[in-house]
Amino acid sequence: MIRSVVRGFGSALPKRVVPNKELESLVETSDEWIVQRTGIRQRYIAGEGETTASLGEAAARAALDRAGLTPDDIDLVIVATSTPDNTFPATAVNIQNRLGMTKGYAFDVQAVCTGFVYAMATADAHLRAGLAKRALVIGAETFSRILDWNDRTTCVLFGDGAGALVLEAQEGEGTISDRGVLTAHLRSDGSHKDKLYVDGGPSSTGTVGHLRMEGREVFKHAVGMITDVIEAAFEATGTTADDLNWLVPHQANRRIIDGSAKKLGIPLEKVVVTVDLHGNTSAASIPLALAVAAGDGRIKNGDLVMLEAMGGGFTWGAVMLRW
Ligand code: ACO
Repeated sequence: MIRSVVRGFGSALPKRVVPNKELESLVETSDEWIVQRTGIRQRYIAGEGETTASLGEAAARAALDRAGLTPDDIDLVIVATSTPDNTFPATAVNIQNRLGMTKGYAFDVQAVCTGFVYAMATADAHLRAGLAKRALVIGAETFSRILDWNDRTTCVLFGDGAGALVLEAQEGEGTISDRGVLTAHLRSDGSHKDKLYVDGGPSSTGTVGHLRMEGREVFKHAVGMITDVIEAAFEATGTTADDLNWLVPHQANRRIIDGSAKKLGIPLEKVVVTVDLHGNTSAASIPLALAVAAGDGRIKNGDLVMLEAMGGGFTWGAVMLRW
């Protein structure tokens, strides 16, 4: 049985780091409010010349280096993003070109903060179907460019960045001892659109628009949706929270992360948290967190890892893999 195995990981952040204190001069907020309500202490904000594609390219190059591979070894690029450089062509095709790739295929996936989970499930399906042998799966965002910087209820929450994994099709035994993606569970429900959306777009307003969110409403749904897909992943694999080495959640809010872990009986020592460093980087947050925790040696080959996210749409999902 074909498994999609992680060969490399990488990440990239903009040069400029913006601590909470700096936002106090922009909107009526405080470091104390932001830390207490979200756990965020700082975020990175893209400057001139830094875009979703440039950050995604840098993360992809880092992942290829770590895998000991070159762009020539890749035949699929998937980018999860809601902040593409252009409406089209896809940012994935832009990155494919920046990497100097002249073969294979590339496309974007749009599932807002759940984008990386959707992209992993999609890459896994393509590798298992034999459409490609090695995939770059990238989450890359410049949310700073769709924020209303006068709206304190949203602008303090988000940041920019990118992370990438190299996945390779390898023969496995077909058991949960295999390395690679073991199961994926994706969900969406468009009836929640008004709670988290961007108020513009090419076909509606002809503008890029700004992010709008009813934070409290999103919060109310988050823990239930996250636990739904994680429990589905446990059930599909016959595993429990005890078998898990690491939970790597979408990094939206420390309280959501802690609440979900508690409900699932996953001790906080097994949860990778980077929201304090990066803020909410939407589709980039999981691969950024993976790069931190695999980079500092916490996540090791053979570890059972759960990725989960929920976001605009609503969309939500979980992927379980053995690193
Ligand atoms: N600084 C100071 N005060 C603020 C700020 C701020 N930046 N923002 C809001 N407030 C005020 C509000 O106006 C409100 O004041 P009031 O009581 O006088 O009306 C008070 O703080 C409390 O506001 P709430 O919205 O009730 O605060 P809450 O505890 O719910 O925290 C937050 C807000 C952090 C947004 C939280 O609801 C949250 O994290 N929600 C989920 C967001 C999320 O997870 N999104 C994930 C998906 S993201 C994606 O898909 C793109």
